[in-house]
Amino acid sequence: MNILILGSGGREHSLAWAVMQNPKCDRLIVAPGNAGIAQIAECAALEIENGGAVVSFAEENAIDFVIVGPEAPLAAGVADRLREAGVLVFGPSAEAARLEASKSFTKEICDAAGAPTAAYARFTEADPAKAYIREQGAPIVVKADGLAAGKGVIVAMDEETALEAIDDMFGGAFGGAGAEVVIEEFMEGEEASLFVLCDGENILSVGTAQDHKRVGEGDTGPNTGGMGAYSPAPVLSAEVEARAMDEIVRPTMDEMKRRGAPFQGVLYAGLMIKDGQPRLVEYNVRFGDPECQVLMMRLGAQVMDLMHAAAEGRLAEARVNWADDHAITVVMAANGYPGSYEKGSVINGLDALPEDSKNMVFHAGTKAEDGQILAVGGRVLNVTARGETLQDARDRAYAMVNGIDWPGGFFRRDIGWRAL
Ligand code: AMP
Ligand code: GLY
Repeated sequence: MNILILGSGGREHSLAWAVMQNPKCDRLIVAPGNAGIAQIAECAALEIENGGAVVSFAEENAIDFVIVGPEAPLAAGVADRLREAGVLVFGPSAEAARLEASKSFTKEICDAAGAPTAAYARFTEADPAKAYIREQGAPIVVKADGLAAGKGVIVAMDEETALEAIDDMFGGAFGGAGAEVVIEEFMEGEEASLFVLCDGENILSVGTAQDHKRVGEGDTGPNTGGMGAYSPAPVLSAEVEARAMDEIVRPTMDEMKRRGAPFQGVLYAGLMIKDGQPRLVEYNVRFGDPECQVLMMRLGAQVMDLMHAAAEGRLAEARVNWADDHAITVVMAANGYPGSYEKGSVINGLDALPEDSKNMVFHAGTKAEDGQILAVGGRVLNVTARGETLQDARDRAYAMVNGIDWPGGFFRRDIGWRAL
């Protein structure tokens, strides 16, 4: 099979790494890719949010299967354009991608599906939103309705912060994403993520993970795209996972199908778990980044067959071959991230690291120039390891981190603390 992966982050490097190990993969192109991906696959420049351009590229290169990494091309309808052109694709339609692109849509689906989630109200004007906040009191959560690159959520521990968030959102701080605002009940508990492949009809769990969203150790400082992750997440025990599948994911899929927008791709359910009861925080319609890196480490080559089965509607017969193992990834980010950071610093020491089925450095914002690897993004490397225990995986991941010589970057030393 000729396979095209869309995206350029650590998520896509790990997807490429897993896919290329599958003997059914004859040729792998990643667009646009990055310096790490270029070491294992062909990279091609392509406007990945432009459906017409992606279809032409797929046709010119005799692509048999497209895997969409990030949400933006999905929200832009790239998977729809590919399907219309008869190209097999892993990823939901723009309509089904509203599960990530619109928080109020997700709330409405949860209501219809009876899926447990936070109580909420939606507003298009500041005054009634503020009145609602005063009536409910803090803590309370204010969310811009649309895609805001993970920054449109304010968890307000006091009323004043919530009221300010309303002014910011209706003041245009989040652009069009803030034209509608969802205000939610604050849910207590422990957060974890569940990843489920869907073929429009059938669902298959491909694992659990826990992210580390805050930039600083001990979960302090501003939110980021994610500073590290591990899988499995112990809080999502088999029992809690089964409840999440039965009470949240399956009813959501059934409701999407009933509305004529069946979901095909990977559904990433962000869950809040308290006393064994999972409630939905949010859906994403793609793999998490960096959660994907630990899932790919654990799943390996079989994930390509599973994604292919999802795209072809054959998930009913698919099974995951689980090893009893753990994976962890430590994100190395440019100094200053998630604020402004410098680009172009040199990373040394990567060549000397062991890279095999248990140890991998997945690249995110890197570029190769004059034989050197340069940091050109906020999140730059995902140092990933797998082991029989989380401790074993963690020790090896940090041993690799210590072998990387990059004064321009930093990392959290406590990834996995919650599970250990
Ligand atoms: P989201 O973009 O919806 O995932 O929100 C970002 C983060 O805000 C989540 O990962 C949670 O940590 C937090 N969050 C969102 N909604 C709630 C809620 N209703 N209660 C408590 N925390 C929340
Ligand atoms: N790591 C969080 C996300 O991918 O949304």
